[in-house]
Amino acid sequence: MTDTILIFDTTLRDGEQSPGCSMNLEEKLQVAEQLEALGVDIIEAGFAIASPGDFEAVSEVAKLCKRATVASLARAASGDIERAAEAVRHAQRPRIHTFIATSPLHMRVKLGKSPDEVLEAIDASVRLARNFVEDVEWSAEDATRSEPDFLARAIEIAIEAGARTINLPDTVGYATPDTYGAMFRDMINRVPNADKAIFSTHCHNDLGLAVANSLAAVMAGARQVESTINGIGERAGNAAVEEIAMAVRVRHDVIPLRTNVVSTEITRSSRLVSAITGFQVQPNKAIVGANAFAHESGIHQDGMIKDASTYEIMTPESVGLTTSNLVMGKHSGRAAFRQKLEELGYSLGDNAFQDAFARFKELADAKKTVFDEDIIALVDDEVLRGNDRIQVKEVEVYCGTHGPQRAVLTLELDGEELTAATKGNGPVDALFAAIRKLVPHEGAKLERYEVHAVTGGTDAQAEVSVLLSEDGRTTRGLGAHHDTMVASARAYVNALNKLLIKRERAPVHSRAMM
Ligand code: KIV
Ligand code: ZN
Repeated sequence: MTDTILIFDTTLRDGEQSPGCSMNLEEKLQVAEQLEALGVDIIEAGFAIASPGDFEAVSEVAKLCKRATVASLARAASGDIERAAEAVRHAQRPRIHTFIATSPLHMRVKLGKSPDEVLEAIDASVRLARNFVEDVEWSAEDATRSEPDFLARAIEIAIEAGARTINLPDTVGYATPDTYGAMFRDMINRVPNADKAIFSTHCHNDLGLAVANSLAAVMAGARQVESTINGIGERAGNAAVEEIAMAVRVRHDVIPLRTNVVSTEITRSSRLVSAITGFQVQPNKAIVGANAFAHESGIHQDGMIKDASTYEIMTPESVGLTTSNLVMGKHSGRAAFRQKLEELGYSLGDNAFQDAFARFKELADAKKTVFDEDIIALVDDEVLRGNDRIQVKEVEVYCGTHGPQRAVLTLELDGEELTAATKGNGPVDALFAAIRKLVPHEGAKLERYEVHAVTGGTDAQAEVSVLLSEDGRTTRGLGAHHDTMVASARAYVNALNKLLIKRERAPVHSRAMM
């Protein structure tokens, strides 16, 4: 058995299924490019049948990727499989990933199919997919709540029909390391043709066990791990790529395997995905959290000064973090700003760099000291906005004790400038009313509006987060600026842009079958 664990990244598919998350085409291409730099082996670029936008994204990622295999998800339905095949057609290494549920609960309640009908659908769907590509992955949705005898039969049929990868997802995050590992050991031992396929893990984090479960399956013989950057995904998320890769690397003594992940690209990948999705990484998150390499207590600091290995099991540099004492302020030039961005894990294209530098200069004029956190907020804000259809151009707000408060707002919508003047019960209300007037979206509800200061001090930048919902879809927008009202307008407009993307997507039901 090979000692390489293939990393199947599903940030663009399962990750994008996180509530509140959506990425447009440009953003997906940026992430795909970074995933290749990170060295993942397979990129699941989307669910081609879900919408024309998803199809286009899979198809463009397929054209872009030079090294990684590009996969599209498909239910056990001929329409899905044909659409997936069409979308990955231009990939250097195309894969169709087809799935169907195998647990009694899912088969009965969700699919309305008997176990025999499901087995027939597995055979037909994998065979159909094999007509288009050699590389077919089959997943047993809700594998961890499936009957072992039935699961073994389903796997055997999928391999017989031509599946090269067998994925056994813990769809609802129910497994524990012991049970998940045992399931892999059992299936690999008892399925007669198991040696003809690579077994794969796909773990959700409902009990906080996704990474532990994935590693348990690897120890039991799995050689593909499905995961996402920062662990984003449905509900509590998926196993995090960076945690899997670093666990394998740091604990090679007990996990004598390897991945192709270029660990120094981890921080860059994490920052990009967090900026694009608006999902901020919790400070205490393993590997990529802001505190992952921070030492507060005196005893720890003392140990660190004497020898970093006293309290660090890996170096910050190994995950792409570099630190320096480069202090940024209004006298800092382009070269220093570029170096700072590199240290923080960003690589911006020329236009984005120039825009970010202009914003940095503006901020440095308004604020005495520009901290790393300020630059992170500013660059994330710039990355977020780059491809938005609606952009905030000008904001003026009149507020004070005597209402009603008023706002004058100019937006650019698909290149055209539009201005509105509105009143409201407070400045934020007036501002958001102006956005609603310029881009009507009556069906959408503002679920949450939150403001926090990026650093201390009265001149701190404000980071605003906005959650919008419409017909069961939610989107999250972020905005940062030293003026809280500008940050608020940017955050709302960012969430609205994401809603426009989500509106194009038809809901996908599980029942479509062969
Ligand atoms: O969690 C899951 O079961 C999935 C499958 C579609 C692979 O995401
Ligand atoms: Zn999943």
